[in-house]
Amino acid sequence: MAETKKLFIKTYGCQMNVYDSERMAEALGGNGYEEVSSAAEADMILLNTCHIREKAAEKIYSELGRMRDLKTAKPDLKIGIAGCVAQAEGAEIMRRQPMVDLVVGPQSYHRLPEMEARAGGGEKVLDTDFPEEDKFELLKARPKSKRGPTAFLTVQEGCDKFCAFCVVPYTRGAEVSRPVDRILTEARDLVARGVREITMLGQNVNAYHGAGTDGRDWTLARLIWELAEIDGLERLRFTTSHPNDMSDDLIDAHGRCEKLMPYLHLPVQSGSDHILKRMNRSHTRDSYLRLIDRIRTARPDILLSGDFIVGFPEETDADFRDTVRLIEEVGYGQAYSFKYSTRPGTPAAERGQIDDAVASERLAELQALITRQQRAVQDAMIGKEVGVLFEKAGRMPGQMVGKSDHLHAVHVDSDTLQPGDLRRVRIIGSNTNSLSGVVL
Ligand code: SAH
Ligand code: SF4
Ligand code: F3S
Repeated sequence: MAETKKLFIKTYGCQMNVYDSERMAEALGGNGYEEVSSAAEADMILLNTCHIREKAAEKIYSELGRMRDLKTAKPDLKIGIAGCVAQAEGAEIMRRQPMVDLVVGPQSYHRLPEMEARAGGGEKVLDTDFPEEDKFELLKARPKSKRGPTAFLTVQEGCDKFCAFCVVPYTRGAEVSRPVDRILTEARDLVARGVREITMLGQNVNAYHGAGTDGRDWTLARLIWELAEIDGLERLRFTTSHPNDMSDDLIDAHGRCEKLMPYLHLPVQSGSDHILKRMNRSHTRDSYLRLIDRIRTARPDILLSGDFIVGFPEETDADFRDTVRLIEEVGYGQAYSFKYSTRPGTPAAERGQIDDAVASERLAELQALITRQQRAVQDAMIGKEVGVLFEKAGRMPGQMVGKSDHLHAVHVDSDTLQPGDLRRVRIIGSNTNSLSGVVL
Protein backbone atom coordinates (compact mmCIF):
# COMPACT_ATOMS: atom_id res chain seq x y z
CA MET A 1 0.00 0.00 0.00
CA ALA A 2 1.20 3.48 -0.78
CA GLU A 3 2.45 5.53 2.14
CA THR A 4 -0.08 8.04 3.47
CA LYS A 5 0.84 11.64 2.93
CA LYS A 6 -0.28 14.50 5.12
CA LEU A 7 -2.49 17.34 3.96
CA PHE A 8 -3.00 20.62 5.81
CA ILE A 9 -5.80 22.88 4.56
CA LYS A 10 -6.26 26.41 5.82
CA THR A 11 -9.64 27.90 4.98
CA TYR A 12 -10.46 31.60 4.70
CA GLY A 13 -13.65 33.42 3.71
CA CYS A 14 -17.20 32.18 3.54
CA GLN A 15 -18.96 28.95 4.42
CA MET A 16 -18.76 27.77 0.84
CA ASN A 17 -15.01 27.64 1.23
CA VAL A 18 -15.48 25.46 4.32
CA TYR A 19 -17.62 23.09 2.27
CA ASP A 20 -15.14 23.14 -0.63
CA SER A 21 -12.23 22.37 1.71
CA GLU A 22 -14.05 19.25 2.92
CA ARG A 23 -14.62 18.15 -0.67
CA MET A 24 -10.97 18.78 -1.61
CA ALA A 25 -9.73 16.81 1.41
CA GLU A 26 -11.97 13.91 0.40
CA ALA A 27 -10.81 14.09 -3.22
CA LEU A 28 -7.15 14.10 -2.23
CA GLY A 29 -7.87 11.14 0.07
CA GLY A 30 -7.90 9.12 -3.15
CA ASN A 31 -4.29 10.22 -3.77
CA GLY A 32 -3.25 8.86 -0.37
CA TYR A 33 -3.62 12.04 1.67
CA GLU A 34 -4.97 12.24 5.19
CA GLU A 35 -5.83 15.59 6.75
CA VAL A 36 -3.73 16.90 9.64
CA SER A 37 -4.16 19.96 11.83
CA SER A 38 -0.72 21.53 11.62
CA ALA A 39 1.23 22.95 8.70
CA ALA A 40 4.54 21.79 10.19
CA GLU A 41 3.86 18.07 9.64
CA ALA A 42 2.26 18.44 6.20
CA ASP A 43 3.49 17.08 2.86
CA MET A 44 1.04 19.39 1.15
CA ILE A 45 -0.40 22.71 2.29
CA LEU A 46 -3.49 24.03 0.59
CA LEU A 47 -4.66 27.59 1.24
CA ASN A 48 -8.34 27.98 0.40
CA THR A 49 -8.54 31.70 -0.07
CA CYS A 50 -11.00 34.64 -0.11
CA HIS A 51 -10.83 37.71 -2.35
CA ILE A 52 -13.84 39.64 -1.07
CA ARG A 53 -11.91 42.52 0.52
CA GLU A 54 -8.34 43.71 0.15
CA LYS A 55 -7.40 42.58 3.67
CA ALA A 56 -8.66 39.05 3.01
CA ALA A 57 -6.51 38.74 -0.11
CA GLU A 58 -3.43 40.24 1.59
CA LYS A 59 -3.55 37.55 4.27
CA ILE A 60 -2.52 35.01 1.66
CA TYR A 61 0.72 36.81 0.88
CA SER A 62 1.69 37.04 4.54
CA GLU A 63 0.75 33.39 5.04
CA LEU A 64 2.99 32.41 2.12
CA GLY A 65 5.77 34.45 3.68
CA ARG A 66 5.45 32.41 6.87
CA MET A 67 5.59 29.18 4.89
CA ARG A 68 8.88 29.95 3.25
CA ASP A 69 10.81 28.41 6.17
CA LEU A 70 8.74 25.23 6.05
CA LYS A 71 9.51 24.83 2.37
CA THR A 72 13.23 25.44 2.95
CA ALA A 73 13.27 22.80 5.68
CA LYS A 74 11.29 20.33 3.56
CA PRO A 75 11.88 20.94 -0.16
CA ASP A 76 9.39 18.21 -1.12
CA LEU A 77 6.56 20.11 0.56
CA LYS A 78 3.89 21.07 -1.99
CA ILE A 79 2.08 24.39 -1.61
CA GLY A 80 -1.23 24.96 -3.34
CA ILE A 81 -3.58 27.94 -3.59
CA ALA A 82 -7.29 27.33 -4.05
CA GLY A 83 -10.35 29.55 -3.74
CA CYS A 84 -11.18 33.03 -4.94
CA VAL A 85 -7.67 34.54 -4.77
CA ALA A 86 -6.47 31.62 -6.89
CA GLN A 87 -9.16 32.45 -9.43
CA ALA A 88 -8.52 36.20 -9.41
CA GLU A 89 -4.73 36.37 -9.26
CA GLY A 90 -3.40 32.81 -9.20
CA ALA A 91 -1.30 33.15 -12.34
CA GLU A 92 0.40 36.23 -10.91
CA ILE A 93 1.05 34.52 -7.56
CA MET A 94 2.64 31.61 -9.31
CA ARG A 95 4.93 33.96 -11.22
CA ARG A 96 5.92 35.96 -8.17
CA GLN A 97 6.15 33.15 -5.61
CA PRO A 98 8.24 30.25 -6.90
CA MET A 99 7.37 28.19 -3.82
CA VAL A 100 3.76 27.82 -5.02
CA ASP A 101 3.38 24.50 -6.86
CA LEU A 102 -0.30 24.46 -7.65
CA VAL A 103 -3.10 26.96 -8.27
CA VAL A 104 -6.69 25.76 -8.57
CA GLY A 105 -9.79 27.93 -9.07
CA PRO A 106 -13.16 27.02 -7.46
CA GLN A 107 -14.63 25.57 -10.65
CA SER A 108 -11.77 23.10 -11.17
CA TYR A 109 -11.64 21.29 -7.81
CA HIS A 110 -12.64 17.98 -9.37
CA ARG A 111 -9.37 18.10 -11.31
CA LEU A 112 -7.32 18.47 -8.14
CA PRO A 113 -6.25 14.80 -7.76
CA GLU A 114 -4.78 14.79 -11.25
CA MET A 115 -3.17 18.19 -10.67
CA GLU A 116 -1.65 17.00 -7.39
CA ALA A 117 -0.12 14.01 -9.15
CA ARG A 118 1.50 16.30 -11.70
CA ALA A 119 2.74 18.67 -9.00
CA GLY A 120 4.19 15.61 -7.22
CA GLY A 121 6.24 14.98 -10.36
CA GLY A 122 7.78 18.43 -10.03
CA GLU A 123 5.53 20.29 -12.46
CA LYS A 124 3.95 23.69 -11.75
CA VAL A 125 0.21 23.34 -12.36
CA LEU A 126 -2.48 25.97 -12.75
CA ASP A 127 -6.16 25.55 -13.56
CA THR A 128 -8.55 28.48 -13.34
CA ASP A 129 -10.94 27.36 -16.08
CA PHE A 130 -14.71 27.39 -15.92
CA PRO A 131 -15.19 23.88 -17.34
CA GLU A 132 -18.44 22.42 -18.60
CA GLU A 133 -18.40 19.19 -16.61
CA ASP A 134 -20.28 18.81 -13.29
CA LYS A 135 -17.63 19.34 -10.66
CA PHE A 136 -19.93 18.25 -7.82
CA GLU A 137 -20.66 14.93 -9.45
CA LEU A 138 -16.93 14.33 -9.93
CA LEU A 139 -16.17 15.45 -6.39
CA LYS A 140 -18.43 12.84 -4.85
CA ALA A 141 -17.74 12.04 -1.24
CA ARG A 142 -15.41 9.11 -0.64
CA PRO A 143 -15.31 6.60 2.28
CA LYS A 144 -18.05 7.45 4.72
CA SER A 145 -16.57 8.73 7.91
CA LYS A 146 -18.76 9.79 10.80
CA ARG A 147 -19.59 13.48 11.02
CA GLY A 148 -20.68 16.03 13.58
CA PRO A 149 -24.37 16.97 13.91
CA THR A 150 -24.25 19.94 11.49
CA ALA A 151 -23.10 20.18 7.87
CA PHE A 152 -23.00 22.54 4.92
CA LEU A 153 -24.29 21.47 1.53
CA THR A 154 -23.75 23.62 -1.55
CA VAL A 155 -26.91 23.70 -3.68
CA GLN A 156 -26.16 26.74 -5.82
CA GLU A 157 -22.95 28.47 -6.77
CA GLY A 158 -21.99 31.67 -8.55
CA CYS A 159 -23.75 34.97 -9.07
CA ASP A 160 -25.26 36.88 -11.98
CA LYS A 161 -26.12 40.01 -9.97
CA PHE A 162 -22.90 42.01 -10.44
CA CYS A 163 -23.18 44.39 -7.51
CA ALA A 164 -20.75 47.19 -8.38
CA PHE A 165 -18.40 46.45 -5.45
CA CYS A 166 -18.22 42.66 -5.57
CA VAL A 167 -15.72 40.14 -6.97
CA VAL A 168 -17.89 37.05 -6.53
CA PRO A 169 -19.41 36.98 -10.06
CA TYR A 170 -15.85 36.95 -11.41
CA THR A 171 -14.31 34.45 -8.98
CA ARG A 172 -17.22 31.99 -8.73
CA GLY A 173 -18.66 32.47 -12.18
CA ALA A 174 -22.27 32.40 -13.37
CA GLU A 175 -25.13 31.08 -11.25
CA VAL A 176 -25.44 27.29 -11.38
CA SER A 177 -27.96 25.18 -9.44
CA ARG A 178 -27.31 21.52 -8.68
CA PRO A 179 -30.01 19.00 -9.63
CA VAL A 180 -32.40 18.02 -6.84
CA ASP A 181 -31.64 14.27 -6.91
CA ARG A 182 -27.92 14.87 -6.31
CA ILE A 183 -28.69 17.15 -3.38
CA LEU A 184 -31.08 14.60 -1.88
CA THR A 185 -28.49 11.83 -2.23
CA GLU A 186 -25.84 13.95 -0.54
CA ALA A 187 -28.25 14.98 2.23
CA ARG A 188 -29.29 11.36 2.93
CA ASP A 189 -25.64 10.36 3.05
CA LEU A 190 -24.90 13.13 5.55
CA VAL A 191 -27.84 12.05 7.73
CA ALA A 192 -26.63 8.43 7.63
CA ARG A 193 -23.31 9.73 8.95
CA GLY A 194 -24.90 11.48 11.93
CA VAL A 195 -25.85 14.90 10.57
CA ARG A 196 -29.09 16.39 11.94
CA GLU A 197 -28.89 19.93 10.59
CA ILE A 198 -28.03 20.97 7.05
CA THR A 199 -27.27 24.51 5.94
CA MET A 200 -27.80 24.84 2.20
CA LEU A 201 -25.22 27.13 0.66
CA GLY A 202 -25.15 29.38 -2.36
CA GLN A 203 -23.92 32.89 -3.15
CA ASN A 204 -27.53 33.52 -4.14
CA VAL A 205 -29.09 30.48 -2.58
CA ASN A 206 -32.68 31.68 -2.92
CA ALA A 207 -32.19 32.04 -6.69
CA TYR A 208 -31.91 28.24 -6.70
CA HIS A 209 -33.64 26.69 -9.71
CA GLY A 210 -32.25 23.16 -10.06
CA ALA A 211 -33.72 20.35 -12.14
CA GLY A 212 -36.35 18.62 -10.01
CA THR A 213 -37.19 14.93 -9.86
CA ASP A 214 -40.15 15.61 -12.16
CA GLY A 215 -38.00 17.15 -14.89
CA ARG A 216 -39.07 20.71 -14.07
CA ASP A 217 -36.99 23.39 -12.40
CA TRP A 218 -37.61 23.50 -8.66
CA THR A 219 -37.40 26.55 -6.40
CA LEU A 220 -35.49 26.60 -3.14
CA ALA A 221 -38.79 26.32 -1.27
CA ARG A 222 -39.74 23.15 -3.14
CA LEU A 223 -36.28 21.71 -2.36
CA ILE A 224 -36.72 22.59 1.32
CA TRP A 225 -40.07 20.75 1.52
CA GLU A 226 -38.45 17.70 -0.09
CA LEU A 227 -35.45 17.74 2.26
CA ALA A 228 -37.81 18.11 5.20
CA GLU A 229 -39.16 14.63 4.34
CA ILE A 230 -35.82 12.99 5.22
CA ASP A 231 -36.14 11.10 8.51
CA GLY A 232 -33.46 12.03 11.01
CA LEU A 233 -32.80 15.39 9.39
CA GLU A 234 -34.22 17.76 12.00
CA ARG A 235 -33.17 21.23 10.92
CA LEU A 236 -32.69 23.17 7.70
CA ARG A 237 -31.06 26.53 7.09
CA PHE A 238 -29.88 28.37 3.99
CA THR A 239 -27.49 31.20 3.23
CA THR A 240 -26.91 33.70 1.56
CA SER A 241 -30.08 35.18 0.13
CA HIS A 242 -30.69 38.19 -2.07
CA PRO A 243 -33.79 40.35 -1.38
CA ASN A 244 -34.91 40.15 -5.03
CA ASP A 245 -35.12 36.35 -4.92
CA MET A 246 -37.20 36.10 -1.74
CA SER A 247 -40.18 34.46 -3.46
CA ASP A 248 -43.66 33.95 -2.00
CA ASP A 249 -43.24 30.18 -1.68
CA LEU A 250 -40.02 30.67 0.30
CA ILE A 251 -41.68 33.14 2.67
CA ASP A 252 -44.52 30.66 3.03
CA ALA A 253 -42.05 27.87 3.85
CA HIS A 254 -40.67 30.07 6.63
CA GLY A 255 -44.17 30.27 8.03
CA ARG A 256 -45.13 26.60 7.74
CA CYS A 257 -42.12 24.28 7.45
CA GLU A 258 -41.24 23.21 10.98
CA LYS A 259 -37.77 22.02 10.07
CA LEU A 260 -36.84 25.35 8.49
CA MET A 261 -35.24 27.38 11.27
CA PRO A 262 -36.38 30.94 12.13
CA TYR A 263 -33.21 32.68 10.99
CA LEU A 264 -32.65 34.60 7.77
CA HIS A 265 -29.52 36.30 6.51
CA LEU A 266 -30.78 38.88 4.06
CA PRO A 267 -28.12 41.48 3.23
CA VAL A 268 -29.29 44.93 2.15
CA GLN A 269 -25.86 46.68 2.08
CA SER A 270 -27.20 50.23 2.43
CA GLY A 271 -30.33 52.10 3.46
CA SER A 272 -29.92 54.86 0.88
CA ASP A 273 -31.71 54.55 -2.45
CA HIS A 274 -29.05 56.61 -4.19
CA ILE A 275 -26.27 54.30 -2.96
CA LEU A 276 -28.30 51.14 -3.62
CA LYS A 277 -28.70 52.29 -7.19
CA ARG A 278 -25.00 53.05 -7.55
CA MET A 279 -24.30 49.60 -6.05
CA ASN A 280 -26.48 48.04 -8.76
CA ARG A 281 -28.51 46.29 -6.06
CA SER A 282 -31.79 46.52 -8.01
CA HIS A 283 -33.93 46.83 -4.88
CA THR A 284 -34.84 49.94 -2.92
CA ARG A 285 -34.91 50.74 0.76
CA ASP A 286 -38.69 50.63 0.68
CA SER A 287 -38.99 47.34 -1.23
CA TYR A 288 -36.61 45.78 1.29
CA LEU A 289 -38.59 47.07 4.27
CA ARG A 290 -41.86 45.81 2.77
CA LEU A 291 -40.24 42.43 2.20
CA ILE A 292 -39.14 42.29 5.84
CA ASP A 293 -42.74 43.01 6.87
CA ARG A 294 -44.04 40.11 4.82
CA ILE A 295 -41.42 37.74 6.18
CA ARG A 296 -42.23 38.77 9.75
CA THR A 297 -45.93 38.33 9.13
CA ALA A 298 -45.25 34.75 8.00
CA ARG A 299 -42.82 34.01 10.85
CA PRO A 300 -43.05 36.58 13.66
CA ASP A 301 -40.13 35.24 15.72
CA ILE A 302 -37.67 35.09 12.80
CA LEU A 303 -34.20 36.43 13.60
CA LEU A 304 -32.92 38.69 10.84
CA SER A 305 -29.32 39.07 9.90
CA GLY A 306 -27.71 41.42 7.40
CA ASP A 307 -24.56 42.77 5.75
CA PHE A 308 -23.71 46.45 5.40
CA ILE A 309 -21.05 48.34 3.52
CA VAL A 310 -20.06 51.84 4.65
CA GLY A 311 -17.92 54.30 2.73
CA PHE A 312 -19.07 53.20 -0.70
CA PRO A 313 -17.95 55.77 -3.33
CA GLU A 314 -20.11 58.94 -3.16
CA GLU A 315 -21.72 57.97 0.19
CA THR A 316 -22.69 61.23 1.88
CA ASP A 317 -23.54 61.78 5.52
CA ALA A 318 -27.22 61.78 4.58
CA ASP A 319 -26.81 58.41 2.81
CA PHE A 320 -25.15 57.00 5.88
CA ARG A 321 -27.96 58.34 8.13
CA ASP A 322 -30.41 56.46 5.88
CA THR A 323 -28.52 53.24 6.61
CA VAL A 324 -28.55 53.94 10.36
CA ARG A 325 -32.30 54.59 10.27
CA LEU A 326 -32.94 51.41 8.29
CA ILE A 327 -31.05 49.36 10.86
CA GLU A 328 -33.01 51.04 13.67
CA GLU A 329 -36.24 50.29 11.87
CA VAL A 330 -35.51 46.61 11.17
CA GLY A 331 -33.80 45.54 14.40
CA TYR A 332 -31.23 42.89 13.50
CA GLY A 333 -30.39 39.94 15.67
CA GLN A 334 -27.08 39.61 13.89
CA ALA A 335 -25.30 41.82 11.36
CA TYR A 336 -21.96 42.18 9.66
CA SER A 337 -20.62 45.53 8.54
CA PHE A 338 -17.63 46.31 6.40
CA LYS A 339 -15.72 49.30 5.21
CA TYR A 340 -15.89 49.45 1.44
CA SER A 341 -12.80 47.90 -0.08
CA THR A 342 -11.82 48.68 -3.67
CA ARG A 343 -11.65 45.51 -5.72
CA PRO A 344 -9.74 45.58 -9.00
CA GLY A 345 -11.92 44.91 -12.02
CA THR A 346 -15.24 45.87 -10.39
CA PRO A 347 -17.21 48.92 -11.66
CA ALA A 348 -17.02 50.81 -8.34
CA ALA A 349 -13.22 50.67 -8.38
CA GLU A 350 -13.26 53.31 -11.11
CA ARG A 351 -15.12 55.84 -8.95
CA GLY A 352 -13.91 58.50 -6.55
CA GLN A 353 -13.22 57.00 -3.12
CA ILE A 354 -14.41 58.68 0.05
CA ASP A 355 -12.07 59.71 2.86
CA ASP A 356 -10.87 56.69 4.83
CA ALA A 357 -11.16 58.43 8.21
CA VAL A 358 -14.82 59.23 7.47
CA ALA A 359 -15.49 55.61 6.49
CA SER A 360 -13.83 54.37 9.69
CA GLU A 361 -15.96 56.69 11.80
CA ARG A 362 -19.14 55.48 10.08
CA LEU A 363 -18.12 51.86 10.54
CA ALA A 364 -17.53 52.38 14.25
CA GLU A 365 -20.95 54.02 14.68
CA LEU A 366 -22.69 51.24 12.75
CA GLN A 367 -20.93 48.49 14.65
CA ALA A 368 -21.85 50.03 17.98
CA LEU A 369 -25.50 50.19 16.92
CA ILE A 370 -25.48 46.61 15.64
CA THR A 371 -23.86 45.35 18.84
CA ARG A 372 -26.59 47.04 20.91
CA GLN A 373 -29.30 45.45 18.74
CA GLN A 374 -27.75 42.00 18.88
CA ARG A 375 -27.50 42.27 22.64
CA ALA A 376 -31.13 43.40 22.95
CA VAL A 377 -32.37 40.51 20.79
CA GLN A 378 -30.28 38.08 22.81
CA ASP A 379 -31.47 39.46 26.16
CA ALA A 380 -35.08 39.19 24.97
CA MET A 381 -34.59 35.41 24.74
CA ILE A 382 -34.44 35.14 28.54
CA GLY A 383 -37.43 33.19 29.81
CA LYS A 384 -38.20 31.76 26.36
CA GLU A 385 -38.22 28.10 25.40
CA VAL A 386 -36.15 27.19 22.33
CA GLY A 387 -34.85 24.12 20.55
CA VAL A 388 -31.11 23.51 20.93
CA LEU A 389 -29.04 21.09 18.88
CA PHE A 390 -26.06 20.18 21.03
CA GLU A 391 -22.71 20.00 19.28
CA LYS A 392 -19.90 19.59 21.79
CA ALA A 393 -18.70 19.86 25.37
CA GLY A 394 -18.43 23.41 26.71
CA ARG A 395 -15.40 25.07 28.26
CA MET A 396 -16.53 24.35 31.82
CA PRO A 397 -16.64 20.76 33.10
CA GLY A 398 -20.12 19.23 32.74
CA GLN A 399 -21.18 21.84 30.19
CA MET A 400 -22.63 21.18 26.72
CA VAL A 401 -22.99 23.79 23.99
CA GLY A 402 -25.15 23.92 20.91
CA LYS A 403 -27.09 26.29 18.69
CA SER A 404 -30.63 27.47 19.26
CA ASP A 405 -33.26 27.61 16.52
CA HIS A 406 -32.27 31.27 16.13
CA LEU A 407 -28.59 30.34 15.85
CA HIS A 408 -27.60 31.67 19.26
CA ALA A 409 -24.89 29.69 21.03
CA VAL A 410 -26.48 28.13 24.14
CA HIS A 411 -24.75 26.31 26.99
CA VAL A 412 -26.33 24.15 29.67
CA ASP A 413 -25.06 22.03 32.55
CA SER A 414 -25.50 18.35 31.81
CA ASP A 415 -23.63 15.07 32.30
CA THR A 416 -25.89 13.08 30.03
CA LEU A 417 -26.28 15.07 26.81
CA GLN A 418 -24.45 13.87 23.70
CA PRO A 419 -23.47 15.74 20.53
CA GLY A 420 -26.42 15.46 18.15
CA ASP A 421 -29.07 15.62 20.90
CA LEU A 422 -31.88 18.05 20.15
CA ARG A 423 -33.70 19.32 23.26
CA ARG A 424 -36.13 21.98 24.40
CA VAL A 425 -34.27 24.45 26.60
CA ARG A 426 -35.43 27.37 28.74
CA ILE A 427 -33.10 30.36 28.42
CA ILE A 428 -32.08 31.76 31.81
CA GLY A 429 -29.16 34.06 31.05
CA SER A 430 -27.58 36.21 28.35
CA ASN A 431 -23.80 36.67 28.20
CA THR A 432 -21.60 38.55 25.74
CA ASN A 433 -21.61 35.92 22.99
CA SER A 434 -23.91 33.19 24.24
CA LEU A 435 -27.01 32.29 26.17
CA SER A 436 -27.29 29.94 29.11
CA GLY A 437 -30.23 27.65 29.65
CA VAL A 438 -31.70 24.62 31.38
CA VAL A 439 -32.89 21.50 29.58
CA LEU A 440 -36.63 20.94 30.00
N1 SAH B 1 -23.69 36.67 -1.88
C1 SAH B 1 -23.88 37.37 -0.72
C2 SAH B 1 -22.65 37.90 -0.02
C3 SAH B 1 -21.37 37.95 -0.71
S1 SAH B 1 -19.99 38.64 0.10
C4 SAH B 1 -24.88 38.46 -0.95
O1 SAH B 1 -25.15 38.85 -2.05
O2 SAH B 1 -25.39 38.98 0.01
C5 SAH B 1 -20.42 38.96 1.76
C6 SAH B 1 -20.50 40.41 2.08
O3 SAH B 1 -19.26 41.03 1.92
C7 SAH B 1 -21.44 41.19 1.23
O4 SAH B 1 -22.76 41.04 1.61
C8 SAH B 1 -20.94 42.59 1.40
O5 SAH B 1 -21.55 43.21 2.52
C9 SAH B 1 -19.46 42.40 1.70
N2 SAH B 1 -18.63 42.84 0.57
C10 SAH B 1 -18.60 42.36 -0.67
N3 SAH B 1 -17.74 43.06 -1.44
C11 SAH B 1 -17.22 44.02 -0.63
C12 SAH B 1 -16.27 45.07 -0.85
N4 SAH B 1 -15.71 45.29 -2.03
N5 SAH B 1 -15.97 45.88 0.21
C13 SAH B 1 -16.55 45.67 1.41
N6 SAH B 1 -17.44 44.71 1.66
C14 SAH B 1 -17.77 43.88 0.66
FE1 SF4 C 1 -21.70 39.85 -4.68
FE2 SF4 C 1 -23.98 41.11 -5.11
FE3 SF4 C 1 -23.61 38.64 -6.07
FE4 SF4 C 1 -23.89 39.02 -3.46
S1 SF4 C 1 -25.44 39.45 -5.03
S2 SF4 C 1 -22.37 37.74 -4.45
S3 SF4 C 1 -22.89 40.98 -3.11
S4 SF4 C 1 -22.51 40.48 -6.69
FE1 F3S D 1 -14.59 35.08 -0.28
FE2 F3S D 1 -14.96 33.79 -2.50
FE3 F3S D 1 -16.50 33.32 -0.45
S1 F3S D 1 -14.36 35.90 -2.32
S2 F3S D 1 -16.58 35.29 0.55
S3 F3S D 1 -14.36 32.91 -0.55
S4 F3S D 1 -17.12 33.36 -2.56
